[in-house]
Amino acid sequence: QRFLKEADKHPDRLLKVDDGLQKIVHHANRASEVIKRLRAFLRKGQKRMAPVSLNAVISDVVKLCQWEAEKNGVRLQEYLAADSPVITADPVLLEQVLINLVRNGIEANVEARGETGRLSYIVVTTCINDQRETLIQVTDEGTGLDDEGIRQMFQPFFTSKPKGLGLGLSMSRSIIEGFGGFLDAIPAETGGLSLICRFPPNQHRLAPNRTADFAHPPGEKP
Ligand SMILES: Nc1ncnc2c1ncn2[C@@H]1O[C@H](COP(=O)(O)OP(=O)(O)OP(=O)(O)O)[C@@H](O)[C@H]1O
Ligand SMILES: [Mg+2]
Repeated sequence: QRFLKEADKHPDRLLKVDDGLQKIVHHANRASEVIKRLRAFLRKGQKRMAPVSLNAVISDVVKLCQWEAEKNGVRLQEYLAADSPVITADPVLLEQVLINLVRNGIEANVEARGETGRLSYIVVTTCINDQRETLIQVTDEGTGLDDEGIRQMFQPFFTSKPKGLGLGLSMSRSIIEGFGGFLDAIPAETGGLSLICRFPPNQHRLAPNRTADFAHPPGEKP
């Protein structure tokens, strides 16, 4: 306001006003985007838990991210367990989480590759480990992060991207935990990160609400 009052004497002050207005617009847009995402997330508060065949969900996610990947010189590869693992989850939310992870991976690859134009890869795998946990791993070729960086990246609103909101991972972790699973990251051999969704063998019992229906179908005594 001060700059605006002095504008007749110092026309260059208008530039400052313009700069200030642009910042206000930027922050307002950001706030509105945050609210939009939080509402979309909360609206789906009524989770629709169902048995989900992971390989099918992952094929869908890869198809949905293909265009963005190609545009950025990134190849998406799937290594899927032969006997497609099944978990209890909301398929729409699970898909949203995996899209988030693949997008972050694409962005990490692009950042690491710089101007080289070299093709890079993101690998999505499913498997059941020797603890009988079901895993989905998304591995990129980004610059990776140390333990402190990994801890930080799951904090809400932590972002290193000019247009980022820093909500993708914190929401994704909440969603996976809502299914009775875990979302973590570890450094990968590629130099990038592996984001790992892990579902314990008795995951359907841990997940809140209605999941007991699947553990014990009607007519079958627990
Ligand atoms: N695969 C990755 N490799 C390296 N750093 C990552 C990776 N994924 C996320 N990060 C870091 O963690 C931060 C937070 O990620 P998150 O997905 O929560 O938010 P964002 O991508 O910045 O914004 P958005 O809310 O739009 O997703 C990123 O800004 C980035 O610095
Ligand atoms: Mg993100």
